[in-house]
Amino acid sequence: MKIAVVQFAPVLGNLDATIAKLRLLLKEAAPADLIVLPELANSGYAFSSREQAWLLSEKVNESVYLTFLSEECRKNHFTVVSGFNERDGNKLFNSAVLVGSDGVIGNYRKTHLFLNEKDIFEPGDFGFPVFSLGDIRVGMLICFDWVFPEAWRIMGLKGADIVCHPSNLVLPGLAQRTVPAHAVCNRYFVALANRIGTENDLTFTGNSLICGTKGEILIEGDATLEQVLITTIEPFQARDKSLTKRNNWPSDRRPELYRKEGLTDE
Ligand code: ACM
Repeated sequence: MKIAVVQFAPVLGNLDATIAKLRLLLKEAAPADLIVLPELANSGYAFSSREQAWLLSEKVNESVYLTFLSEECRKNHFTVVSGFNERDGNKLFNSAVLVGSDGVIGNYRKTHLFLNEKDIFEPGDFGFPVFSLGDIRVGMLICFDWVFPEAWRIMGLKGADIVCHPSNLVLPGLAQRTVPAHAVCNRYFVALANRIGTENDLTFTGNSLICGTKGEILIEGDATLEQVLITTIEPFQARDKSLTKRNNWPSDRRPELYRKEGLTDE
């Protein structure tokens, strides 16, 4: 299958302008089967207040942005993962939505909030779901989740073949160095779609990447340019968890010892 990441700068507070940009970028990405977009791609990131974030949020089932993505999926026969500023009741979530030609397939709400996100969004309450896309299993994590190996391991334990990672990274190089290690340890593919540009006092670091099950960088973006990165992967390689003929991480794990050390999710 072909997988793509779209590295671009959404226009803060101007959904029409963001959609106009994406219309062109998705045309370029159209050979891909699965396309990953950055975090909060429907709104931008560096809000001046929670009120601004609220005004720029959308409900999943009443979203101009997700309707646009779904129409693109129908026209081009691809599936999209996008960061999404989600309103639910009186709460906001920093979400990632898996969208196909019939609409929303899955939703993940960012678990680990970064900096001022803590004043705006609720921490995710959906856990760590993995969704089926035909025979392929797709998980989603968002940006600062990169710091928490637990989240990445859960994706592995739940059988994700590909982890899509919409991001608005601001700490240069750190996630880009770490994410390939998560891929090696779990033996799955990762598509990290980072954004570029500056909003208020934040500069986003680009260098989006797609890596393979050995952590090898299959394709990597520039730090500042708008880019579509497309590569071909064999997703079922992620089903082979062996590192040597006597080592396979799911069966070599020692959860009973991890539990003794107080890892409560074990
Ligand atoms: C981040 O979580 N947007 C750095």
